[in-house]
Amino acid sequence: MKRAIYPGSFDPVTNGHLDVVERARKLFDEVIVAVAHNDEKQPLFSLKERLNLLQQTVGKIDNVRIAQFDGLLVEFALQQKANAVLRGLRAVSDFEFEFQMALMNRKLEGNVETIFLMPKEEYTYLSSRLVKEIARIAQFDGLLVEFALQQKANAVLRGLRAVSDFEFEFQMALMNRKLEGNVETIFLMPKEEYTYLSSRLVKEIARLGGDVSKFVPSLVASALGKKFKG
Ligand code: PNS
Repeated sequence: MKRAIYPGSFDPVTNGHLDVVERARKLFDEVIVAVAHNDEKQPLFSLKERLNLLQQTVGKIDNVRIAQFDGLLVEFALQQKANAVLRGLRAVSDFEFEFQMALMNRKLEGNVETIFLMPKEEYTYLSSRLVKEIARIAQFDGLLVEFALQQKANAVLRGLRAVSDFEFEFQMALMNRKLEGNVETIFLMPKEEYTYLSSRLVKEIARLGGDVSKFVPSLVASALGKKFKG
């Protein structure tokens, strides 16, 4: 019996996940979709809700079973007598972490292989994180593309500093195009000397008492100073 585990947070399940399950069930006698408790990630959906959503989407497929697990994935795989762990690979940006995780899992347990499946190209832009962000923004201020349309703007501008920005910006631009085809995303490159600069790092430096006056307007530097004082 060829049995595979497809583990993840599934917070929430996306069409990309469903595509991977659909591919996997043709390759294995049984596929166990295993939802990690992952409380430390502070999921948007509770474990019960995530299991329910999966049950309603792939739970009725013959050779697919939904399960939950806590603790080490390889131990769960052994316990379920599964010889493969499946992960979806969307883009290069996924690779680094997936590769580390696969090698680490092999180190922990040599008898469980990790196998990567690529979902349909049209799901390259899709991630649970973006799906949640869209839902959350909709709840508060509305979608960016809707705002753009309302303002009769036909372009959204984003700054691109480095390759590391690209992957997420690319996903976001494609997702926005999917939501509204009439709004183009345009990327502008700031001066090379700002390549290293990010709001996140500036906040961290200010929080740790560093001088941020070289990086932001003086008004912002003093506002940051006040925020982190005391
Ligand atoms: O959908 P995600 O969040 O990318 O899934 C990550 C998941 C759940 C597969 C990973 O965090 C995991 O395997 N957790 C179980 C704990 C474990 O085995 N950690 C060691 C991984 S090398």
